[in-house]
Amino acid sequence: MTEKTFVTAARLEDVPPGAKLVVEVNGISVILCNTRDRIFAVRNLCSHAFETLECGRMRSGWISCPVHGARFDLETGAPLNPPATMSIETYAVRVEGGMIEVEV
Ligand code: FES
Repeated sequence: MTEKTFVTAARLEDVPPGAKLVVEVNGISVILCNTRDRIFAVRNLCSHAFETLECGRMRSGWISCPVHGARFDLETGAPLNPPATMSIETYAVRVEGGMIEVEV
């Protein structure tokens, strides 16, 4: 099993409140989301039919899949409505010196 480490993903100023940003971290496409006064990081992959989530709507603590409309809790990755039944992957985030770091 590979050990997880925090990897610098973006500058905090590049993800202002209400915005999201797609970054690649260790070869994984990750969406950084600034909502509810913090940064969340989730994998850019819907658990339903494995489409990307980057064009989905993001609101207070959730992101929706643009393909069939499932919404996911950004903190836990849990699906909030059908058709998704499985969680999406989430990553721990920390902010150090104005940089967003993601644990992958
Ligand atoms: S691919 Fe995301 S809800 Fe179907």
